Amino acid sequence: MELPFAESYKIRMVETIRRSTRAEREQWLKEAKYNLFGLKSDHVFIDLLTDSGTGAMSDRQWSAMMLGDESYAGARSYYVMKEAVKNILGFDYFLPTHQGRAAENVLFSAIIKEGDIVPGNSHFDTTKGHIEFRKALAIDCTIDEAKDTQLEIPFKGNVDLKKLEEVLKKYPKEKIPCVVLTATNNTAGGQPVSMENIRGVSALCKKYGVLMLIDSARFAENAYFIKTREKGFQNKTIKEIVKEMFSYADVMTMSSKKDAIVNMGGFTAMKSEELWKKCQMYCIINEGFITYGGMSGRDMHALAQGLDEGTEFEYLETRIKQVEYLGKKLDEYGIPYQRPAGGHAIFVDAKKVLTHVPKEEFIAQTLGVELYLEAGIRGVEIGAILADRDPVTRENRYPELELLRLAIPRRTYTNNHMDVIAAALKNVYDRREKITHGYKITYENPIMRHFTVELEKVK
Ligand code: F0G
Repeated sequence: MELPFAESYKIRMVETIRRSTRAEREQWLKEAKYNLFGLKSDHVFIDLLTDSGTGAMSDRQWSAMMLGDESYAGARSYYVMKEAVKNILGFDYFLPTHQGRAAENVLFSAIIKEGDIVPGNSHFDTTKGHIEFRKALAIDCTIDEAKDTQLEIPFKGNVDLKKLEEVLKKYPKEKIPCVVLTATNNTAGGQPVSMENIRGVSALCKKYGVLMLIDSARFAENAYFIKTREKGFQNKTIKEIVKEMFSYADVMTMSSKKDAIVNMGGFTAMKSEELWKKCQMYCIINEGFITYGGMSGRDMHALAQGLDEGTEFEYLETRIKQVEYLGKKLDEYGIPYQRPAGGHAIFVDAKKVLTHVPKEEFIAQTLGVELYLEAGIRGVEIGAILADRDPVTRENRYPELELLRLAIPRRTYTNNHMDVIAAALKNVYDRREKITHGYKITYENPIMRHFTVELEKVK
């Protein structure tokens, strides 16, 4: 008989998590103003808020931490990280930062000015935040197919090259500091971008003389999908695919809390020495000296090791099969989600579940609250709250999709946890007709309001 699949690691350290009662959860939620970010993690049984910084480091990463050199300038750890960035990703220059958005801040301070246009595929919220904060405009050029959650295509995160070319044609290149290619495409459901599409974006960037930036938070998961789904890549290693992906980019920003499997860290890397020099000042004033940025030496050491492990096929297969496993369970129960299952998360199609909740009452948020009440499972809203208000009209933006993201931390939960998540969702799904009202906002910040928004039940 063929042996079943099993994880490519064993577990040597565990952390206790606790179930709670529904009455407790009701109280905690009320105190948190119905914002799941406001909950204490001790009050969460299975935490799917994010896969960012929540993974389990390996024995090798923990040992690497002991080798960290905490010198202010020229630390050994910096050079270890530099070597990994060069060998695995192919960039000669980089600046460490404390996380991904800090990398965006350092890079965008150097290249984006008021009135600029930044096309891309579903810019992540901090990316868009950093663009809009500078009074520039992010234009989404994701393929339309990404909006149909039930459509199964292999590379649903792709850039629509026609849409992109229209933008590149319409505005002078001086107004377009870069194109942001996000791989995998988080907001569209952790959906990958094909190598063919990356090549296409690169060709357009070259044609119009615009920098190509890869937002690389989940680049390795993207490479896994290229290997397993795109013709011609089956026999290539993940590391070979990663090298090719980045061979097309001029610059990258990285939240290392995802595919480099560290709890904190990030960087921006570039091929141009001139751009690196231009960014240095912003690194120094915002993050720290150029050889540590926002990171301690031990974290840079663990990051370098994580980049190596994160680009190994066996690890990625274990990771992505777990997400698929949860997807298959939801299929059994008929619960609609962005298909096919993404790299880091399942995105439940909240509009298709809570059909009676009006969009003005925040459908995905309502589903997130219900799932927490059901079993102490915390997901995150990817819907109208996250979309923020239009920067000009200040009206709420209602995206076509209202999704509840269930992000799976790396190497953290077992498939038994996946079973609990699926069963809890099924219970909510079974009583979906009874959920007819959602929430209204009582407090919000002007940008990235979802982190601190306060809500109240409509009825
Ligand atoms: N780009 C993408 C595609 C991301 O998903 C994130 C973070 C960032 C940039 C910013 O990185 O958090 O290190 O500052 N995503 C997390 C998430 C927060 O939950 O998806 P950061």
